[in-house]
Amino acid sequence: METRRTFIKKSVLTAAALPVLSSCVNISTIKAKVPMKSKKIRKVAVLWYSQTGNTQKCGKVLAKTFEKEGIAVIYGDLRDFNQAEINDVDLMVIGAPVFYYDIPDFVKDFIQSLPDLKGIPVAAYVSFGGPEGNQHNAACSILEGLVQKNGVPVGLNAFMTISSYSLSFKTKYKDIKTKDNTILPDMNTYNNVRQYAGFIKSEVEKGNTSVFKKTLTLREFSTYFRPQWWAKMVVDNHTIIEKKCVECGACVEKCPTDSIDLNTFSVNTDTCVLCFGCINNCDYQAVNMEYDKEKIIGFNEFLEENNLKFELPVELKT
Ligand SMILES: Cc1cc2nc3c(=O)[nH]c(=O)nc-3n(C[C@H](O)[C@H](O)[C@H](O)COP(=O)(O)O)c2cc1C
Ligand code: SF4
Ligand code: SF4
Repeated sequence: METRRTFIKKSVLTAAALPVLSSCVNISTIKAKVPMKSKKIRKVAVLWYSQTGNTQKCGKVLAKTFEKEGIAVIYGDLRDFNQAEINDVDLMVIGAPVFYYDIPDFVKDFIQSLPDLKGIPVAAYVSFGGPEGNQHNAACSILEGLVQKNGVPVGLNAFMTISSYSLSFKTKYKDIKTKDNTILPDMNTYNNVRQYAGFIKSEVEKGNTSVFKKTLTLREFSTYFRPQWWAKMVVDNHTIIEKKCVECGACVEKCPTDSIDLNTFSVNTDTCVLCFGCINNCDYQAVNMEYDKEKIIGFNEFLEENNLKFELPVELKT
């Protein structure tokens, strides 16, 4: 008969083995369905969604690195991309933050809205605030969508940065001033970004396409249970504080679901996907959200409270 001791031992061993076993399970293979359009790169599109700037900074460094090589680059927020320009593009790079172990739904929607890419080489990157995230699979989500549009996958990367997950500011980081990634991105991060640009370029010039695999991880598994909806259950009183609000519109601009109504200073918490875009971008502390009866603070307030400053790479100084 199994003793309590052996039961506990077996359970611990199983729990320890689970991530290893599950990481061997391949849940999707991402590979080209069509030949590569061309090995010559004349124009690159580097497009991103960024809520607090990390993905944007990496995207700009990628863009400037291509420019340095004499390549024309269209770059910026993916929502501003003029899809009519797609036929001139020889390489497309898409970046997104990791939200709830995946890329945000509206980035997936954007990719789905793209026209046929007709063999354009495509690459992905994510910025993430882990270390416990699901970064590889999240970057795979970008490529998965692009391959469905007949993009040809050539690269994938993930850059660790400071986390913008507001719920953790008061809890996880409460007394920690410079916990590992709270000082990222740094100059090493940007070196990795530059190297990634070089890697993608050389893969295209060699005509190499890559195969990427999404593997089953516990984090991936949990995405099926929509962690944002669970997180929503612990956040109370999500409203706009009329007295503090200067109606600058930053929160409305960042909200991917049009959930903020400045006429009534209210938030539609049914449609809100708890991305924290509003609270993270309000400089007037006018977005109210509470966790455990305490006001949640936004990204900028967190940086200020902890005197966190980030050195910019040379490309972003000009
Ligand atoms: C709503 C939300 C959910 C997040 N979920 C994760 C996550 O699951 N894993 C992770 O590593 N980082 C997570 N983060 C941290 C962000 O991925 C990270 O800070 C990223 O660099 C933000 O990029 P941005 O500055 O371009 O918006 C989350 C941040 C937010 C706001
Ligand atoms: S960002 Fe802040 S100040 Fe600006 S409109 Fe939104 S709540 Fe008001
Ligand atoms: S209202 Fe909700 S969905 Fe909109 S920015 Fe704020 S947290 Fe994100």
